[in-house]
Amino acid sequence: MKKQLSPSVQWVGVKDPELEIFDIVVPTEHGTTYNSYLVRGEKVNVLIDVSKANFSEEYFGNLEKILPITDIDYVVVQHTEPDHSGCLLELLKRHPEITVIHSKPCKKFIENLVNREFKSWSINSGDELDLGGKTLRFFVTPFLHWPDTMMSYLVEEEILFPCDVMGAHFTSERNDAIMNSELDDEDYKTSIEAFKFYYSMIMRPYKEHFLKAYKLIGDLPKKIIAPSHGPVLDRDPEFFLEWYHEQAQNYLKRLNGQKVTIIYASSYGNTVLMMNAVKVGLEEAGIEVVTFDAATADMNEMVDSIELSAGILFGTSTINAKAPEPVLSLVANLVVLNVSGRKAGVFGSYGWSGEGISMTEGLCEVMHMKIVQDAYKVQMRPSAEQLEEGRQWGYGFGLKIIE
Ligand code: FEO
Repeated sequence: MKKQLSPSVQWVGVKDPELEIFDIVVPTEHGTTYNSYLVRGEKVNVLIDVSKANFSEEYFGNLEKILPITDIDYVVVQHTEPDHSGCLLELLKRHPEITVIHSKPCKKFIENLVNREFKSWSINSGDELDLGGKTLRFFVTPFLHWPDTMMSYLVEEEILFPCDVMGAHFTSERNDAIMNSELDDEDYKTSIEAFKFYYSMIMRPYKEHFLKAYKLIGDLPKKIIAPSHGPVLDRDPEFFLEWYHEQAQNYLKRLNGQKVTIIYASSYGNTVLMMNAVKVGLEEAGIEVVTFDAATADMNEMVDSIELSAGILFGTSTINAKAPEPVLSLVANLVVLNVSGRKAGVFGSYGWSGEGISMTEGLCEVMHMKIVQDAYKVQMRPSAEQLEEGRQWGYGFGLKIIE
């Protein structure tokens, strides 16, 4: 296990190989790590992130084997999610004179996290800290993936600390590797899969924010990328950054302003009849339409299609005064996308009173989608006139997409 990344930087994190689920929703088949880094200059010592609170004893025990806690001058809180800031309160108790470095939005979060006074430095992009022979430079990179996210860069040793970006929930079961160059071929391949899965579950909604950050960090020389989770990337570090860059660029290229995805759930086929009428109207407006039966379609395919659509339509039945489970499940899975501002509409057949339709509209609004026209509703089986109404409704939605 190589903990010394470079002459000045040491990994002081903890491993959590038994973790099965992260943040309630992310399966972690290969466990994870909470990476923390000690950067030592001739004059100044700095911690970059700490660790999760329930690893406090292990974390401080390991740190104290290296140096007295009071010899650390600064701690950089690159964002306040508690898997990396959970030990901050204990750090402040042990060493009240330490200065906390953070982004401006982070300060309030830290105040609410530790509920005590602390020495603070709110950085701006480009600010530097002279460690004595080494320099840490800071960058404000909001929404990667929290509003308070920042990154750090050790100039002389060309090490980027990008917070959760380029992280992976992975720790080897076969050896105690810290660096990805220490992994054997099979583990390396698995770590890449974990890196991509991490992106799809956590970083995927923030592509535009990544592109803004890339303008700050893309051109920096990088011998090592040291993210907050998973292996430290000393083998082919540029691959990981450029893979993120490619995802963001491809998304912008493929985003189709003329495409609408329809997700439908129909108990007795009446909502399907309505969907077909709506589809005809959309196509008459020149819109590319992709449809999915929510009860049987692959969830990833639905989410992928929605990501690249300018508009989303939900066709839903109503069961026990609610939208049925396949619709609710799809909505829950949209957490991995940014659908804010996306044009949306809801239609459906119902038997008694149709609460599934208004419930789905409410969910769209909660996700900040833009409902652009009133719902198209039919009690029981649509008549020919009602199907014509559906065609016009689809056409109207199509015009709102291309306007
Ligand atoms: Fe790994 Fe956003 O915390």
